[in-house]
Amino acid sequence: TVYPSQDEASVKVAERIATIIKDKQAKGEKAVLGLATGATPVKVYKELVRMHKEDGLSFNNVVTFNLDEYYPMLPTAEQSYVAFMNKHLFSHVDIPQENINIPDGTLAPEDVQAFCEAYEQKISNLGGLDIQLLGIGRTGHIGFNEPGSAPNSGTRLVTLDDLTRRDASREFGGKENVPTKAITMGVGTIFKAKEIVLMAWNEKKAEIVKKAVEGEISSEIPATYLQMSDHVEFVLDEDAASAL
Ligand code: GLP
Repeated sequence: TVYPSQDEASVKVAERIATIIKDKQAKGEKAVLGLATGATPVKVYKELVRMHKEDGLSFNNVVTFNLDEYYPMLPTAEQSYVAFMNKHLFSHVDIPQENINIPDGTLAPEDVQAFCEAYEQKISNLGGLDIQLLGIGRTGHIGFNEPGSAPNSGTRLVTLDDLTRRDASREFGGKENVPTKAITMGVGTIFKAKEIVLMAWNEKKAEIVKKAVEGEISSEIPATYLQMSDHVEFVLDEDAASAL
């Protein structure tokens, strides 16, 4: 779906999320949201905060699972996805702290695998993700599933692509400060979500969006795997859609 602007597109995505939350509330159930970081979803979160403050949208039945986190990473670090989510969403809404799940960047290496398995288990115990938000990296990554990721991959520790680290260098004050690894939900984890929404804005995403939507399905561009799903929507602004 192509919208004239990022603002309009973000409001639509926020409205979809609000509908899921309210439908679940009406049934006395939890809404299980898969969330993404990066610049792309910021306006979606801004609109959700507005809905909370002005329209009374409550997050008390919401459970969230973030896609990824750098590794190693302290939750108190400015660049952590914990800090990002607090800044843009969690600290402004009434979500219970214990309902927030973000991969733990402080784990000892020997504890990572068990953590990843428990993360998957927790999602399935709740009945799966009702919706998964995605951005797209210029390598074609979704979450931090870089080129080479398998379509059935689960939550795991991965090595970041050089281009991904370069793209993150501004926040870290230099590429050398960007962690070389991350913990990410797998492509298989993402695929299990009942609905997948990939958002992309601006012309700098046009080329990778074209490859993801029209290119041959390949592990070289993990976002092409989304072509195999029948419950995925690409939500784009005109600039990101300009090469299609
Ligand atoms: C990071 C995140 C991804 C995100 C991507 C794009 O690498 N781990 O989940 O989609 O960057 O970032 P942005 O939205 O800032 O373009």
